[in-house]
Formats: sequence, C-alpha cells, structure tokens
Amino acid sequence: MAQVSEKVMVELHNVDKSYGDNKVVKNLNLQIQEGEFLTMLGPSGCGKTTTLRMIAGFEDVTAGAVIIEGENVVNKPPYQRNVNTVFQNYALFPHMNVYDNIAFGLTEKKVNKEEIRQRVGEMLSLVQMDGYETRRPSQMSGGQKQRVAIARALVNRPKVLLLDEPLGALDLKLRKQMQVELKHLQRQLGITFVYVTHDQEESLTMSDRIAVMNNGVIEQIGPPDKIYNRPATKFVADFIGESNIFEASVVSINGDNLKVIFETGGAEVSASGFNQDEMVYISVRPEKLKCSIDAVPGFNLRGTVKEHIYVGSISKTIIELPNGQNLKMSLLTGTPLLPQGENVWVYWEKDDTVVLHTNEETLYNLIEQVPKIEVRV
Ligand SMILES: Nc1ncnc2c1ncn2[C@@H]1O[C@H](COP(=O)(O)OP(=O)(O)O)[C@@H](O)[C@H]1O
Ligand SMILES: [Mg+2]
Repeated sequence: MAQVSEKVMVELHNVDKSYGDNKVVKNLNLQIQEGEFLTMLGPSGCGKTTTLRMIAGFEDVTAGAVIIEGENVVNKPPYQRNVNTVFQNYALFPHMNVYDNIAFGLTEKKVNKEEIRQRVGEMLSLVQMDGYETRRPSQMSGGQKQRVAIARALVNRPKVLLLDEPLGALDLKLRKQMQVELKHLQRQLGITFVYVTHDQEESLTMSDRIAVMNNGVIEQIGPPDKIYNRPATKFVADFIGESNIFEASVVSINGDNLKVIFETGGAEVSASGFNQDEMVYISVRPEKLKCSIDAVPGFNLRGTVKEHIYVGSISKTIIELPNGQNLKMSLLTGTPLLPQGENVWVYWEKDDTVVLHTNEETLYNLIEQVPKIEVRV
C-alpha cells in the first residue's frame, strides 16, 4: 500500500477566480501531498468545480498560481499538465466501445498497439470490467460506465487524478460500494486524488484530508475526525453531520471551564481562548446530548420531549426548548426512550462541546437579546 509522502504534488497559491464582477474563488491556498486523497467538500455553488477546473487547466485563474510538482502551470494547456479528470457525467464517447474509450488517450499519443492492448487490459482488470471490451456506453449501467471513465483516466498513468462528483449519478447502494473500491484503488496505485463532493458522509469515509469550502473560501482543512469533532467554524459544524447550536454569552471563566448562558438557560463547557462576556456559539452533536428527569449540576436547560424518529440503527429524539428551538438527540435503537410530552433537563459532558467565536454580525444581533437573559447557572 502506498503512503502519503511529504512531497507537495499540487499547490494552489493565492488563487482567485472571477466571472465578471462575481468572485467565486477567493484567495485560495492549498497544498496537496503526493499519494494523498484530498476532498473538497461544500454546498452547490461554493466553487469546487471551478477550483478543480483551474487545476486541470480547463479554466484560467484570475490571479495566483497553480503549481504541479514545483512548476507553475497557469500558462500550460490541460494536456501538458500531468493530471487527468473524471467527470460526474462520465463523458464517454458514445460511438466507441469500452476498449476504444479506454485506449483513446494512448492512441492519440501514438503509443504502439501492443502496449495499448496490454495497458487497456490491465485497466479493465483493475476496475473489474474484464470481458466488457466490445460493449458500448448505452449497453452498460451507471456503475459500469463510471468504472470505464475511471479506467480511461488512469490508463494515462497521471500523477494526479481529479474527480468531480464521480459517484453523484449512482444510487445509494452502488455509491457506497464504489466509495470503498475507489479508495482502495487510490491506495493501491498511490496516485494523488483531488476529489470533489457535496456529500459530507462520502468525504468522511474516503479522505485523508477534507477541505471544507463555503462561498469561495476554505473554512477548514484537516483529517475527517478533526473536521467532525473539532469544527473550526459554525458553517463547518452545521455542514458536517448534525449539530445543536446555541448562541451564547460567556459569563464566567475558571481555567478551561466556561459558564455560558443562552436564551433558554445556561451550561458549563470546557474551552480555552475565550473572554468574559464574549459572544460564542456552542455546538453539541446529537450523539453527545443527554437528558434526565432530574436536574444536573452545572446545567440549566429544560425542554419537552416532542417526538421520536426511528432511523434504523439509531433513534432520534427531538426536544423542544421554551423558545421553540428543537434539539436533536440520537440514541442507539433499543435504548429506552422517555415518553413524549415529558419535561426533561438537557445536559452533556463538558468536553463534548465545541465553542466557536462568532462574527460581528451575530454579535450585533445578540447584544439586543442579552438583557432579557436571566443568569441562573
Ligand atoms: N462559466 C461560468 N460563468 C459564470 N459563472 C460561473 C461559471 N462557472 C461557474 N460559475 C459560478 O461560479 C460559482 C461556483 O460554481 P462551481 O465551481 O460550479 O460550484 P460547485 O462546483 O461548488 O457547485 C457559482 O456561483 C456559479 O454560478
Ligand atoms: Mg460542481
């Protein structure tokens, strides 16, 4: 199995992209290491495809540098960059069979027939499509076409493979299977993958690191567990998995122990780097939220059990707070559930929260609320 190396394979340096007055990628800086599986994750329209196309050379940068293996390639056309792209819609040639589709790049480069035969054969086994040489795209399923598209890109032996939502058109079961296969293939070949998706679960499953994009900027970059457990911004906390988010104010600090209040009560959390009276977001994952019939020291947060939702291996309980905010709590199915309508105390372990700085705009909104909050912690 190939390992991620220290060598930087692809680097984006202060990259901007504008379409007219519309700045869609803003001062992007990113270093991708050799053999790494790097995912750009974000909602539709945040600039993922544009970024990938600038790496591939299908799109010019407005400013900044795209560096591949130490060389600035902004003035080079796509075919002179050692990268290949797999698109969501496969982009196979409909009039060519599987063999000719995969062989296309090599034929163009005038590689000799025997070598082409051998390399196409290798690719077909790699993507488990032996025997499909004479099929046309219209005679294959979505999953099979996607495998051929991957083989067609890999046959050129690129150092970097760019993949734009390559599994987006597949149904859930096949998508999950292909996620595992693709990840395995990437490890086996040691090729650097730059993978684009809007599917947070997919990114968590496959990546060495995830770059979370929002509105043309990278809000956080890091390994999946760090992104999930230590989101750096409210957007990341919201976008990756589910979160219960409270807008709160720090009322006292004792070492790493913060007491915070919010509209519906108060709590203790553990965090450092915050100031007395600072406005913060408190984010708690549904699997970390707990409730109890009896009051819990350090917490003053009361709600009503509104409903239970069965989702296979877990059950979700919705707890409604007096201000109408719904909290999500998830439990393994089979855990005894509190009856609907029951009044409960909500709490969590102090370490199971993420505390985030707010921006000025939120601060302004909160200042108006603060006097109404009664300090009861
Ligand atoms: N060729 C183009 N001309 C004008 N605007 C574009 C063009 N391509 C993309 N955009 C705009 O750039 C933004 C980012 O698009 P894109 O990179 O495709 O997002 P994503 O892949 O994250 O969904 C969007 O607002 C989109 O409308
Ligand atoms: Mg896109």
